[in-house]
Amino acid sequence: MAVYFLENLNAIDVLKTVGIGLILYPILTVIYNITLHPLSRFPGPLLWGCSRLRYMYSSWSGWLHSDVAALHEKYGNVVRVAPNELSFADPRVWEDIYSNRGSSPAFPKSPVWHGSTPGKPDSLANLISSKRHAAMRRKMEPGFTERAVGQQEEIVQGFVGLLMQKLKGKCEESDDGSAAVDVVKWFTFVTMDIITDLSFGESFHLLEKEELDDWVGVVVNSMRVFTIMATLRNYPWLNWLLQKLIPASARRKADWHWHTVMQKVDQRLAEDTRRPDFLSLWQRDDKGGDGLEKGHVYANAFIMTVAGSETSAGTLTGTLNKLLKHPEILERLTKEVRSRFAHETEITFAALKELPYLNAVMSEGLRVCSVVPGLTLPRITPPSGGIVCGYRVPGNIFVGVHVHSTMTGSRYFFESTEFRPERWLAEVNQDPSSPYFHDQRNGVQPFGIGPRSCIGKPLALAEMRLILARLVWTFDIGQAESEAGKVVWEDQRAFTVIDKKPFEVRLRPRVQ
Ligand code: HEM
Repeated sequence: MAVYFLENLNAIDVLKTVGIGLILYPILTVIYNITLHPLSRFPGPLLWGCSRLRYMYSSWSGWLHSDVAALHEKYGNVVRVAPNELSFADPRVWEDIYSNRGSSPAFPKSPVWHGSTPGKPDSLANLISSKRHAAMRRKMEPGFTERAVGQQEEIVQGFVGLLMQKLKGKCEESDDGSAAVDVVKWFTFVTMDIITDLSFGESFHLLEKEELDDWVGVVVNSMRVFTIMATLRNYPWLNWLLQKLIPASARRKADWHWHTVMQKVDQRLAEDTRRPDFLSLWQRDDKGGDGLEKGHVYANAFIMTVAGSETSAGTLTGTLNKLLKHPEILERLTKEVRSRFAHETEITFAALKELPYLNAVMSEGLRVCSVVPGLTLPRITPPSGGIVCGYRVPGNIFVGVHVHSTMTGSRYFFESTEFRPERWLAEVNQDPSSPYFHDQRNGVQPFGIGPRSCIGKPLALAEMRLILARLVWTFDIGQAESEAGKVVWEDQRAFTVIDKKPFEVRLRPRVQ
């Protein structure tokens, strides 16, 4: 029967059959996704659950974080945001997805979201195998401990000192002794100089040149490309097609970037130095023995420049943005810092750790102005499934925390979206009459938790405290009158990290 059918099939019939198949397949898939799919019982709009197109549209437009926040407001702590993906907004999600708990390991990353770059070695951030990741992380950890950060303080202080000097220079150039400066630019200069110095043994000298170079452009754009490529990997054929369409000039630029990394790392390794940068502190073994292989050193030195500058610069910008909207908080912070330090040389990493209000401001800045606000920490459930926030989730499903909703949800915080550093002060914990007593502060994990949490957290906190404290110690800070002085943090798009608009503030050196 089948042979007879095939013998009598002509080209037109074949085309018709393929055409009908091409039309029917997506229709049947959509019907399956909203009726029989194991996630069809989870709450969420049909448009998001029937195919991934709505998610991709939102992600590519840069509004995924706020679109999904609106869905959580409507549907609660779990939302189906794509046929095979659930978003969670609940403090319990951290432990359930990202932590190793007894015999249940943290859910793994998936190659769909954290794929390797063809032909390039893996870095800590995109290594999928938990075992290989743990081995790599062990070799890199000596570069990121509190002790290492203590050793790196002199390098960081040097750059922060230069930042203050440059900003004072801007004020001196003007007639009235004050200057409106775009802090996004200046925070990028200083954090990028710090991280490139630690990664390559020499900074990119952005503070000296006062301009962002090609490299920074590539790093900033790479977040956009990363976001688009990650969503495309859900459709391998479309991904394949777009890979083929990448223009030769873009490929040349990527090659140039990679060769620059290799060249800079090689140059630094050729020097006989004991400076406490990452390359000194990571365990290396050029022969492929019990240390990081050369390829992994290159890949990790590069990933540091992506992970270690945009994030800190964004958090500082967001925190300053909120401080300027709340002059009384800025005043209290300024008072704390100025009354504690008589001279700027006293402003050290160790001393800043002890300032309660500064640390409360930093914690609140990290909570309200998350630089990775949306679904940015995706994981996949093991084949046998798992329990997340009390829900039984089937196997091989993408799950993730919606960072913004978990850290600012009205169910978990008093005045949940307001910038209120008081909620972090130690006395709140002991005072049941405080409106913030019941805040679920354990849900605020801006650096993630578990085996894949942020390795750079001690450095990030130390450098951000130092930059903010030195700023309020040195300058009276006020709102700039320009349009760029009126940026509303929440009105910004995000491509994995917040896509920062220029933000100007007015600085005037304080009169002592
Ligand atoms: C405010 C600053 C920062 C924030 C909010 C932040 C946030 C995060 C988060 C949430 C993760 C976990 C990602 C995931 O689970 O998928 C992460 C991972 C990572 N961060 Fe950070 N980060 C910051 C600064 C830094 C700095 C300064 C460095 C480098 C010195 C750094 C290097 C990394 C690396 C390498 C990873 C991957 C770790 C792994 O997979 O083992 N970050 N970061």
